[in-house]
Amino acid sequence: MKKKKPNYKLRRNIAKVILVFIILIPIFMINKTKIMHAPLYISNSKYSKTLDAFFQINYNTNETKDILDKLKKNKKIDKVDSNYIVELSNKGYSHNSINYMLLNLTKTELTKMLNKKYDKDFEKYILLDLFEWKKYSRYKNYQNKNPKLTIDEVVTRVSLNLDKDQYEETVEEKNPNSLDALVNKHRYISKDYVPNDLVDMEDGYANNMFGVKEIRKETYEQFKKMVDAAKKEDIVFYAESAYRDYDYQKSLYNDYVETNGQEEADKYAAKAGFSEHQLGTTLDIANIWTIEEGDKEYNWIEKNGYKYGFIFRYKKKFEDITGYAEEGWHIRYVGVKTATEIHKKGISYDEYWIKYINKKSSKN
Ligand code: DAL
Ligand code: ZN
Repeated sequence: MKKKKPNYKLRRNIAKVILVFIILIPIFMINKTKIMHAPLYISNSKYSKTLDAFFQINYNTNETKDILDKLKKNKKIDKVDSNYIVELSNKGYSHNSINYMLLNLTKTELTKMLNKKYDKDFEKYILLDLFEWKKYSRYKNYQNKNPKLTIDEVVTRVSLNLDKDQYEETVEEKNPNSLDALVNKHRYISKDYVPNDLVDMEDGYANNMFGVKEIRKETYEQFKKMVDAAKKEDIVFYAESAYRDYDYQKSLYNDYVETNGQEEADKYAAKAGFSEHQLGTTLDIANIWTIEEGDKEYNWIEKNGYKYGFIFRYKKKFEDITGYAEEGWHIRYVGVKTATEIHKKGISYDEYWIKYINKKSSKN
């Protein structure tokens, strides 16, 4: 029997159709995602219908007006809201920014925004986790004074109250017992706080010539491990100062002020209540002389300290964040996990705390 000749033309056409589908399906999906994406930003139902309608179309102003008119006729939105949307959009704001403004700004603030020229930074600011509308003018002032900082740095620093003078706008650290506690020139601990697990440090791990040094138990255990590990590599250091109570810190600070003047004292010493030595997780280390950045002991701790849970709090590169001059001798125990993350990120503890610790606890 004669074999039937395959219909190549039909096969080619089927192949073409399949090819077209393969190309079109992803394009269709992308467009669909784009269209579906806009309403995802809209978390508050008050404006969702308006914005939904407004942004689902790849709008031009006339189309938008038609939709808004229909919505108004159906009493789905009031006149003022729709005007804001149109005007903000015409000004250049994205749907994400408009949504943010409608949800967070008062009508007076919205009007102000409309009277000002388009603020392109606003779009970037609102994407940051730490962004708070009520601090917006503080961000802008700080940004003007520090034009080299990124927007992320501006928001982080203002969140730490660094746009205020030192010891201005202070808040109490209510969990001084936590390894995460943050103490700095804007955060203090109660005068009465004394850790309940202080232990005496042995000679060799501390210089006890002028009184036995005390430190919290876990900090001490980790410190001993670190000192022992360093010794194996011929690196030697010990604690020259450890836990300091409120009154001792007070006399120390006053002595500094008397000897060097207030401004100089503030570079190296904390006011009583504002020193993390009162936490019992902080040590000043020495090897006959105080250890400074770049010394071999410093370099060893910089490389290995995180494995034992220790970080340097006052590095030269953090001076404008901490408000203290470099202190290569001052180490703080924060636990291995946190110290490891800080080591990887290379940021100050203040920044780490506001971004990752405070954020987490304020969500709980
Ligand atoms: N030297 C540090 C800043 C303190 O006094 O706590
Ligand atoms: Zn210190």
